[in-house]
Amino acid sequence: MDGRDLVRSVKAVGSLGFAQGLRAVGAAWRRRRADAAGLPPRGAERARVPGPLREAEPGPGGGVIRFGRAELRIMVTVHGAVFWGWDGAGPEPSYALAGRCPEPDPRAVLEPDKDGGWRVVAERMTVAVSRHGAVEVQTPGGVMLRRDLPPRWWEPVGGGPARWLQRSRVPADARFFGLGGRASGPRLRDGVYRLWNTDPGFAFGPGDDPLYITMPVQMVVADAATHLVFHDTSWDGTVTLREGEEGAGSGHDRAGACELRMEGGPLRCWVMVGTPARVLLAWASLTGAAALPPAWALGHHHARWGFGSEQEVRRIVAGYQERGLPLDAVHLDIDHFDEHQVFTVDEERFPKLSGLAEELRRDGVRLVSIVDPAVKASAGNAVYDSGTAEDVFVRDASGRVVRGLGWPGDSVFPDFTHARVRAWWGRWYEERLALGFSGFWHDMNEPTSFTAFGESTLPRSARHSLEGRGGDHREAHNVYALGMARAGYEGLRELAPEQRPFVFSRSGWAGMQRYGGTWSGDVATGWPGLRASLSLVMGLGLCGVPYSGPDVGGFDGSPSPELFLRWFQMAAYLPLFRTHASLRAGRREPWEFGPEVLEHARVALVERRRLLPYFLTLAHLARRTGAPYVRPLWWGAPEDRVLRDCEDAFLLGDCLLVAPVLDPGTDRRAVQLPRGRWYDTATGRAYQGPGQVLVDAPLSRIPVLARAGAVIPVRGADGGLELEVWAPARGRTGGGLVVPDSGEGWQEPEIERYVSRWEGRRVVVRREGEDGVGAPPHPVRLRGVADGEGRV
Ligand code: NOJ
Repeated sequence: MDGRDLVRSVKAVGSLGFAQGLRAVGAAWRRRRADAAGLPPRGAERARVPGPLREAEPGPGGGVIRFGRAELRIMVTVHGAVFWGWDGAGPEPSYALAGRCPEPDPRAVLEPDKDGGWRVVAERMTVAVSRHGAVEVQTPGGVMLRRDLPPRWWEPVGGGPARWLQRSRVPADARFFGLGGRASGPRLRDGVYRLWNTDPGFAFGPGDDPLYITMPVQMVVADAATHLVFHDTSWDGTVTLREGEEGAGSGHDRAGACELRMEGGPLRCWVMVGTPARVLLAWASLTGAAALPPAWALGHHHARWGFGSEQEVRRIVAGYQERGLPLDAVHLDIDHFDEHQVFTVDEERFPKLSGLAEELRRDGVRLVSIVDPAVKASAGNAVYDSGTAEDVFVRDASGRVVRGLGWPGDSVFPDFTHARVRAWWGRWYEERLALGFSGFWHDMNEPTSFTAFGESTLPRSARHSLEGRGGDHREAHNVYALGMARAGYEGLRELAPEQRPFVFSRSGWAGMQRYGGTWSGDVATGWPGLRASLSLVMGLGLCGVPYSGPDVGGFDGSPSPELFLRWFQMAAYLPLFRTHASLRAGRREPWEFGPEVLEHARVALVERRRLLPYFLTLAHLARRTGAPYVRPLWWGAPEDRVLRDCEDAFLLGDCLLVAPVLDPGTDRRAVQLPRGRWYDTATGRAYQGPGQVLVDAPLSRIPVLARAGAVIPVRGADGGLELEVWAPARGRTGGGLVVPDSGEGWQEPEIERYVSRWEGRRVVVRREGEDGVGAPPHPVRLRGVADGEGRV
């Protein structure tokens, strides 16, 4: 254990309390013993590189290239992604892919290249393989986007998984993003990023890594093009990044570098090239469409660890109602369980939970339940008894059920890498639905099993089904939460087929968007935590997980009124808008911070509700196109280097630019604008991009700018849909998409397309349909014009 791990352990155990702390010591020893017995030491290893190229055999979409000591298979697929795998690795099996691997593109053929190499030419890229096994991805014009040097393997002499290393070069101007949820981004600076889903065990800030969701997914943005690379292996590993340097025209650029070291698993990857939007579209076609949240999940949620009773829940809800503050959901944490046992209710403190759920539902407030994977290992616990009878719990190498430590004490863990176990788990949501819960909050699923030292998770030697292939926790760990999300989502689809499931999960992996979203986890209260929460949301969006948001106000401690307000104002523009805090933290109700904060929070809540149709549209677009709701400023202009480095603002869809206040004492802030005209939505003042402008940011609001020409669906005073149109610049046109979704169920509303333009002295908005252009079927409200000018 290094010093950092020790500090982590001490902090984490310190937060558990005395009795759990003692159990955590026992659990740590058990875990260590299990691994000592179940994982043979690696012993001597043999190093290997591919060796010289011997022959190539063309095949569908590419072919196989054989080297002296390895072979490489390359395949371009129909939607423009390229796959390559070493030593027989194919695209399947994979936890990331949605369904079967896409078909090879018959137009892509393997052909001889210069210097004895081979290449595959595809529509959006060329992949060139050198005679020593370097693989280079180039733009169709031949510019290098990524060059993988020949890989290296270390194979245990006595057999077992090979470790491997893949070094890559990227252009000197490239920037790295992604790798799952990272607190120090979204631009990933030079450093080492671990690929091992981890509960830090305490409230984290920007310096803490790894966190709950790690993914071997990198989005690399360079002048020549953007590419996404996904190394499809769930094993533990590290990614070391070093940005390049440009030699200011001297011709001495230093390329950017990436080094991926994995403890095992196949060496295989997928690469997609294009604009950010194209790349994420290809990524979504590969890994699956994002689950569509119900409308209420795009409203405001209030959570708390430790409401402690039905009365307290009623008091909070009444607090919102009495003050006329919109509220859409309340989340119950583990304190509503009977002694923290999942799928139970503390009947003393929550004696009429279903009545409470019904009452809240009548008032338009949904109840969301936390769900932890740890099942109390105690006869009489129905989940434990049923799971034992059905043999669903993870076992160790000698066949004994693994005992870890969760909130309820000694616990066992379902093996979500087994279809039968997922189906069994999915049926437990029936109990929750019967109680009146509408949504599910998956927690502690890294999985976390408290230990006083070593890693707070299951032993690495623990056995998993891995869909019947068999393997251990080294391979299953990172996909554990993905399996749990699938179990919950599929269970809910069976139990309540007419409803859109709402599941969000603390941990996960590539493809988790198919089942729902996520949240920041225990982000530390403080201004750095506020920044970290924005980094997480943006980074996850670029990995294909569009729905997430932070604990508003931070998880621990007590935010100052100013910090709470600024957090609240930012989160009002993030997909998941939820206040939440720890058992021991200070209050988080908007009225607890004085009348001024309350009034400004009210404005944020009301605005969020007004923007609901826009959020629903963004949810549909995320599902259909893979584009996240929250996008970095460079989304539409990745070649703009200033925007590429700008991390303190974001685009919400195509229409809005949100510039949160991330520092105390601010009443104005600099905003970097992409090209075009932008209106401050509060004052109507127009600014011209590209460039930096100073915008007012009084305590009452954060700057939100609308793109000239934007057509934004909003909720009108009567609750109906209206179009808010921001005048295009003279001589230019604008537009927007609207998906008029009822917010529930599975109907597929048709996308409405609008264009806005000047006709003489008037701004005209038209709907474009298959049968021509027509008047919009919704009322239109024009903004961004001087009085008397530009009626619609
Ligand atoms: C850890 C979660 O991250 C947090 O949100 C939750 O309140 C606690 N577990 C208790 O369930």
